[in-house]
Amino acid sequence: MIAKPDAVERRLVGEIVRRLEQKGLVLVAGELRTIDAKTAAAHYAEHEGKAFYGDLISFITRSPSFVMVVEGPEDTWRIVRTLMGPTDPAGAPPGTIRGDFGTVMTENLVHGSDGPDSAAREIGIFFPALS
Ligand code: RTP
Ligand code: MG
Repeated sequence: MIAKPDAVERRLVGEIVRRLEQKGLVLVAGELRTIDAKTAAAHYAEHEGKAFYGDLISFITRSPSFVMVVEGPEDTWRIVRTLMGPTDPAGAPPGTIRGDFGTVMTENLVHGSDGPDSAAREIGIFFPALS
C-alpha cells in the first residue's frame, strides 16, 4: 500500500496506518520516500497513454509518499482495497479512507495492489529485498 503525497502532506499517514492495524493487518515494511519518475512509470505502466497519465505521474512524484508492505491472511490485497474504498472519493462510502478524507479522483490518498500478481510485482518494485 502507498499513502500518496496528498496523504503525507495532510498528516494522514498515522490515521491510515491506524486503520490497517485496527483491522488486524501488520506492517512488514514502511518507508517515507519520494517516488522518482522512473519508479512511477514502472508502477503505473498499465496506465501509460491514458489521458490522465501525465497528471498521475506528476502527482505521485511531487513530494514524499509513505510506501508500505502490509501482511495479513490470504487475499490481504482485497482487505486493503475494501478499507481504501473505490477510486473516486466522490462516490466512496463513509468509513473508507477515500470516502472519509477525499473529494477528487486526482488526490485519492492511497494506492493498493489490485490482485495477487500486482501485489508481487509492486513489492518487487518498491522493496526488492523482500521479493
Ligand atoms: P491506485 O492504482 O492509485 O490504487 O488507484 P485504483 O487502482 O483505485 O485506480 P486505477 O484505475 O489504478 O487508477 C490509478 C489512479 O489514476 C487516477 N485516475 N484518474 N481521470 C480518470 O479517469 C482517472 N482514472 C484513474 C486515480 O488517481 C487513480 O488512483
Ligand atoms: Mg490501480
